[in-house]
Amino acid sequence: MKVLVATEKPFAKVAVDGIRDEIEKASYELALLEKYSDKKQLLDAVADADALIIRSDIVDAEVLDAAKQLKIVVRAGAGYDNIDLAAATAHNVVAMNTPGQNSNAVAELALGLMVFAVRNFYNGTSGTELKGKKLGIHAFGNVGRNVARIAKGFGMECYAYDAYCPDEAMLKDDVKPVHSAEELYKTCDVVSLHIPATAETKNSINRALVGLMPKGGLLVNTARKEVINEEELILLMQERADLKYVTDIMPVADAKFKTLFDGRYFATPKKMGAQTAEANINAGIAAAKQIVDFFVNGNTRFQVNK
Ligand code: 3PG
Repeated sequence: MKVLVATEKPFAKVAVDGIRDEIEKASYELALLEKYSDKKQLLDAVADADALIIRSDIVDAEVLDAAKQLKIVVRAGAGYDNIDLAAATAHNVVAMNTPGQNSNAVAELALGLMVFAVRNFYNGTSGTELKGKKLGIHAFGNVGRNVARIAKGFGMECYAYDAYCPDEAMLKDDVKPVHSAEELYKTCDVVSLHIPATAETKNSINRALVGLMPKGGLLVNTARKEVINEEELILLMQERADLKYVTDIMPVADAKFKTLFDGRYFATPKKMGAQTAEANINAGIAAAKQIVDFFVNGNTRFQVNK
């Protein structure tokens, strides 16, 4: 049984060692394809793989066609918008994610980006503090809950909107539920995005919504670039010189944002949220364990293409 780890953005070495242990303990073979620059390398590498561990790597119909032996693909992480689920199902391939395993890392980065932004990107000028500010958590999943936990340590007042999460879960965490995205943006000084990229959410963070934010509003994106309507956000930030946007997922229009919004915009050069040794170990080893558990016991608990 061959398990391929294909990561354009590699895991920390300590995580790869942990994955190898899990795979070899089960008497399977581990193959590694890291930092590949050409899809052809992935197409070649998957040819004889029975299982595949990926991060944001794209697994589309072409990859699945090339992966003749593949039975399971595990996205070591939360968002699985990089897997063509319908194609996986058509190829009889089980697709899974590892929910929660890297959420603290992403949440810590979200707070780090907030501090960076309210301190004027550490440019030496006087900034503001997070204490006492209203934080809007847009979607209250694993990352959103960790953001609330850390933000409360900063003394922020936390609000959340999540159409799929009951109020009780938010109240239990001392977070105030609101019942529309509009209400969240209208209420909060800082909004942190934790929504997945789906047909429903793509382009949904638009001029009308962000435009509701109070003066000095800060939008923080550690979710996906696709959820932002970039053209409309640019228009809005041109109209409203008080708004700031910081993101861990570089927009398509990065150059334009940079030129137009000097001192109000920042994007990490590569998605950094889950890029910690701890998150790599948690998500990578969970992925390896889920693969072994699938082959040995048929466990499909984390399957996302059921
Ligand atoms: C996720 O969905 O788990 C995060 O966006 C992390 O993605 P990455 O593994 O590509 O860093």
